[in-house]
Amino acid sequence: MNGPVVSAVSLGCMGMSGAYGQSDDTVSIATIERALELGHNFLDTADYYRTGHNEELIAQAIKGKRDKAFLSVKTGQLIAPGGTGPINTHPDYLRNAVMYSLQRLKTDYIDLYTPARVDPTVPIEETVGALADLVQKGVIRYIGLSEASAASVRRAAAVHPITALQIEYSLWSRDIEAEVLPTIRELGIGLVAYAPLSRGFLSGEYKTPEDIKDNRARMPRYQGKNFYKNLELVEKIRTLATEKGCTPAQLAIAWVLAQGDDIITIPGSKQIKHLEENIAAENVQLTKQDLQSIEAIMPAGIVSGTRYPEMFMNALNR
Ligand SMILES: NC(=O)c1ccc[n+]([C@@H]2O[C@H](COP(=O)([O-])OP(=O)(O)OC[C@H]3O[C@@H](n4cnc5c(N)ncnc54)[C@H](OP(=O)(O)O)[C@@H]3O)[C@@H](O)[C@H]2O)c1
Repeated sequence: MNGPVVSAVSLGCMGMSGAYGQSDDTVSIATIERALELGHNFLDTADYYRTGHNEELIAQAIKGKRDKAFLSVKTGQLIAPGGTGPINTHPDYLRNAVMYSLQRLKTDYIDLYTPARVDPTVPIEETVGALADLVQKGVIRYIGLSEASAASVRRAAAVHPITALQIEYSLWSRDIEAEVLPTIRELGIGLVAYAPLSRGFLSGEYKTPEDIKDNRARMPRYQGKNFYKNLELVEKIRTLATEKGCTPAQLAIAWVLAQGDDIITIPGSKQIKHLEENIAAENVQLTKQDLQSIEAIMPAGIVSGTRYPEMFMNALNR
């Protein structure tokens, strides 16, 4: 691995801009400030998280301490009347979007810049070529990809070194283990594992589908019979966590970290309480026996329901 060294448990900021219910900007800013104070520097955002609101929050939190933060910014996800639009990673779009991000973040460089999905209408070589120009100009430091297939990662890495692949990876989302993970390991690319708690479910805090009143209600894992089958799995994780003296969320995060030193994880939290609990997962040491016990109750593929609604699934693994 030749990339930058960042904190193993970092902070996903998406929920601070309304992705999962209400948020309070003052509390969110305090959470980001606390992450930096604890030396957990990698902050994950996107220019489309409430159309720049998330970046503006981060700008307030990092004011006067830009050097303490490692800014990971995703881009290219368009919005459309009524909801999510297509992806756009055309060079012109990226060159324009990055300048707006710099303004909102009140900084003159972004550490890691990542197209949110592979754009089927633009050869990935062109996308990465444009990002390589931005590296040359000092506007961004490193190039990332997100939810890309092994083949796309290879094509991209042939144009310019790719520092990280951001992709969903958790006890319940293990598709990458077959092909994507071995490929990025071969190419020396780090993994930024997002949604390590399967959007909060693995924390064990939700008891019925009615507890979820936000975007997640559209996700198959959170619906009807799937919800209750998945809840049974969470209760088994809770038992293991209790035996281990940690919380279910910490066990889920520790499992991700135990999959390799080339993996960092970005649990999302808008609350200091959760941030601190998640960071403490770094101290949960899972033995070989623990990992076998987890595997026995939760083998790959056991979860009920896909990780996204049908309409978003075809944008993955392109
Ligand atoms: N590349 C992509 O396509 C993509 C897609 C989705 C997300 N992401 C990034 O990944 C980050 C993390 O993913 P995510 O937020 O979707 O899912 P996640 O990290 O699996 O779960 C976040 C949810 O779990 C809750 N939570 C966090 N820590 C907890 C704890 N210790 N106990 C109980 N509940 C806890 C949060 O609530 P509170 O906020 O109330 O703490 C939030 O509702 C995002 O913030 C975003 O930066 C990237």
